[in-house]
Amino acid sequence: MRRTIVAANWKMNGSTEMVEVLVGGVKSGLSGLDKGVEVVIIPPALYLRDVQRHLSGSEFALGLQNAACWQAGAYTGEVSADMAADVGCRYVLVGHSERRQYFGESDEVVAEKVERVLESGLNVMLCVGETLAQREAGEAEAVVARQIRIALAGVAAQQWEQIVVAYEPVWAIGTGRTATAADAQGMHAAMRALLAELGAPAEKLPLLYGGSVKPDNAAELFAQPDIDGGLIGGASLKVDDFVRICGAA
Ligand code: 13P
Repeated sequence: MRRTIVAANWKMNGSTEMVEVLVGGVKSGLSGLDKGVEVVIIPPALYLRDVQRHLSGSEFALGLQNAACWQAGAYTGEVSADMAADVGCRYVLVGHSERRQYFGESDEVVAEKVERVLESGLNVMLCVGETLAQREAGEAEAVVARQIRIALAGVAAQQWEQIVVAYEPVWAIGTGRTATAADAQGMHAAMRALLAELGAPAEKLPLLYGGSVKPDNAAELFAQPDIDGGLIGGASLKVDDFVRICGAA
C-alpha cells in the first residue's frame, strides 16, 4: 500500500489573518477525514510557526517550499533543510517549476537541494514537469525523465523512503488547464517505471499530480492507479475547495 498525500502549496500567499482563517477552516473541515490521507500544509516559511500553532493537536504535516543548497552559513535570505527539520517540518518541496523558471534553478542545483534535504532527515517532494512547448514537441516524457534522473542520482538505497515525486506539467499550473486523467496516469506510469530502473522501491513511492487540481477534477485524477494524491496550489487557498479535494483522495 502506498501513502496517499494531499499537499497545500500556498506559494507566496498569506498573512497572519489568513493563516488563522484558512488553517482553522481546514482543520475543522477535515476533522472527520479518513486517516489514510496525509495532509501537508506548505506555507511561506515566515508563517510555518503560526500554521503549526493553529494545527496543534491535529495530524497534519508541515512542509517548506524551498531550501538552500547549504545547511548554514553566510547566505543572506536563505533557509536550510536543517532549519525546516528543527521547527518540525516533514517535507521540503524541491525543484518547483516556479523556482526553475524565476530563480534559474537547474537540474544540478535541484540535485544539491535533494541531497541537503535527505541529510536533514526530512522527506523530499520533488517537482518535475514539462512546458507546453516541450509537450507539443513530443518531449514530455524525456524532459521529466531527465529531471528525475539528475535530481535523484545521489539517493542511497536506504533514502528512497524519503522521496515523493510530484508531476506538475508547467502548462497546467495556475492556468485552469488540467492534464486529462489519462495523460497524467500515462506520465505517472512512466515515472514509476523509471524509478524502478533507478533502483527505487517504485511500487511504494508516492507520486502526486499537481496543476489546476480542483474539487471537480480531483476524484477522477486520484482514481488513477499511479496517482497517489495531489500537490494543490490555488485551490489550497480556499477552505471549501481544499477540504473537498482532500475528501476525494
Ligand atoms: P495550481 O493548483 O494553482 O495550478 O498550482 C499547482 C502547483 O504549482 C502546486 O505546487
